[in-house]
Amino acid sequence: MDLILLGAPGAGKGTQSSLLAERLGMEKIATGDILRDAVRRGTELGLEAKAFMDAGELVPDAVIFGLVKSALSAPAAEAGAIFDGFPRNVPQAQKLEEILDEMGRTLGAVVVIDVPEEMLVRRMSGRRTDPETGNVYHIEHNPPPADIAGRVVQRDDDLEETVRHRLQVYRAATEPLISFYESAEVPVYHVRGDRSIDLVREEIVGLIGR
Ligand code: AP5
Repeated sequence: MDLILLGAPGAGKGTQSSLLAERLGMEKIATGDILRDAVRRGTELGLEAKAFMDAGELVPDAVIFGLVKSALSAPAAEAGAIFDGFPRNVPQAQKLEEILDEMGRTLGAVVVIDVPEEMLVRRMSGRRTDPETGNVYHIEHNPPPADIAGRVVQRDDDLEETVRHRLQVYRAATEPLISFYESAEVPVYHVRGDRSIDLVREEIVGLIGR
């Protein structure tokens, strides 16, 4: 079974998808992480994506489709994938349906993590990432361990102005996916993401029933 985690920037998709992947033995497919890795390595994909990402805009769909197809074909994704940051708009959702159909896979559920907007802005301004492992921390709610505190970095797109633009892009392009999946009769579950990381994770595990 494959699963989509949907939610605004900063809602906790990355945090939860890592925890759930480990707990449920599924593969996390996070398009934002794949793109940031390409930017860090200076690949052609990274060069193409960077300007869109720094501006808080979506990277063109055609670029994203290739990434998702190849991540989903990896042996690690056979037991099930957790999509984090994909799909991001209706054309991406339609493409995902096509790819899953071709591969004989099913989308089991969509989990929407709901968090109030001002909390999202605070979360993103305090977010820090470990460039070596990709693990995500927060300077107040989830501080990095002392041995790696010196190497964590802030994302280029976490400046407040860019964060507010990313939230607008989410409302315009991504939020409509909730009704898209409700109409497609895929189970859509809402969880309150303004609670502790552990509580959110346990609620999701309970909902998807694995
Ligand atoms: P992407 O990396 O997908 O970013 P996003 O969707 O904007 O989401 P974030 O990573 O900002 O937040 P999150 O929900 O994962 O929260 P997190 O767990 O980190 O995309 C970045 C860019 O790449 C896009 O703008 C676009 O340009 C491009 N892109 C990516 N995918 C694309 C696609 N499919 N199509 C086109 N373009 C694409 O948590 C945030 C902070 O809060 C952390 O510090 C964390 O420690 C903390 N936190 C989390 N949960 C809690 C909690 N319960 N309580 C307290 N603190 C918490």
